[in-house]
Amino acid sequence: MNIDAVKGMNDILPKQIHIWQKIETIVKDVLMRFCFDEIRMPILEYTNLFARSIGEVTDIVSKEMFTFEDRLGKASYSLRPEGTAGCVRACVQHSLIANNQQQKLWYMGSMFRYERPQKGRYRQFHQLGVETFNVAGVNAELEQLLLMQNILQILNIEENVTLKINSIGNFATRNNYKQALVEYLMPYHDELDPDSQNRLKHNPLRILDSKIEKTQEILLNAPKITEFLGAESLAHYMQLKQSLTQLNIKFIEDHKLVRGLDYYNDTVFEWVSNDLGSQNAIGGGGRYDGLGTIIGNMDVKASGFAIGLERLLLVYMAKFGGEKLLDQNHAYLICSGESDTIKLLLAAKIRNICPNIKLDICMQDALGFKAQFKKADKVGAAVALIIGADELANNSITVKFLRDSEKQQITIPFNELNKHLQEIQ
Ligand code: HAM
Repeated sequence: MNIDAVKGMNDILPKQIHIWQKIETIVKDVLMRFCFDEIRMPILEYTNLFARSIGEVTDIVSKEMFTFEDRLGKASYSLRPEGTAGCVRACVQHSLIANNQQQKLWYMGSMFRYERPQKGRYRQFHQLGVETFNVAGVNAELEQLLLMQNILQILNIEENVTLKINSIGNFATRNNYKQALVEYLMPYHDELDPDSQNRLKHNPLRILDSKIEKTQEILLNAPKITEFLGAESLAHYMQLKQSLTQLNIKFIEDHKLVRGLDYYNDTVFEWVSNDLGSQNAIGGGGRYDGLGTIIGNMDVKASGFAIGLERLLLVYMAKFGGEKLLDQNHAYLICSGESDTIKLLLAAKIRNICPNIKLDICMQDALGFKAQFKKADKVGAAVALIIGADELANNSITVKFLRDSEKQQITIPFNELNKHLQEIQ
């Protein structure tokens, strides 16, 4: 029997990778222009780190982590379900955020959650995470929301994504609100779905996220968390909304947005899209000023977000399809009757003098011109570079455009190839 990949963990095949690379390149370019620095953390951390940061009673920690002990049974490790905890751990460990040092960091990589796989939900998935440390005011959130807006604009999917925001205040706000919510919901106990009944005891805020229609109906008249905000949180939230409007970032307020991780305070946000089905969140984040204290006993103002790259790709492909665009700089070397070694040598010379082109060659010996042209077509080359007996004798090369019949085939001195290709691209 064949051994397939583990359920919910996907191979990304060569025919899909070009979209990944395109999106990753755009994202990294925007991050660079906003002056965020990359950080790479291990994918494995001590389980405690996640339990303490994300919260013991959250779904992620209580049901979704890939957790195992070391061979001696002395330590418990978990594959990272998200990047924020590891990022803060690394910053504390390497003194990057002590003494109020500002940091603007990003990471990209695999995350692992033991969830039931479906469209847009996998057990291994990829996130881009962005974290800003030691910026107290709303500017941290605003810069990140601008950054994401910029990514969506460049990908031309801004219209397909909605930004939702809310404020969940501080610890006291949430405690008071939890109490009020439970009091409101208790009389409806028997009408709630079993999951929500369970959450009444352990994690009542998550009931707001329920996908069950009847539960949502009951919630229509529930108290709103924003009614419980203290003066400071309210001022922060008002400032955020005002600045978003000034910055021309569209948003809607969602009083039921509370997020599935415990470390947030004040601002929370999520980007959702109708192109995704039930797993409709492309990304989310918010402020988490208390996590530095939990992880490193350090008072650190922090704000961040992560986007699920699979979901970003799904939204992009829903609009533009997955077709590979023709690379104008993709060339194919076609040689007559030469041995493979000479072909490889000619290709090496071309790669040397034309550093900006992608050059393919036919790896099969002694194929005729026609068959080589067919191969050039199949790989999607835009240009054929032909070296026959004449070209070899004259130290020249012929350039033929395979996708543009209006451009004339031309024979030029070999060492002018780069200049010529630049002129026509
Ligand atoms: P999160 O909302 O748990 O936040 O995840 C962020 C995004 O990761 C989601 O919106 C979704 O696009 C993607 N995602 C989550 N689970 C899966 C899955 N099973 N399959 C595919 N995609 C998934 C966080 O992880 C926080 N660390 C974000 C953050 C950073 N907050 C502050 N800084």
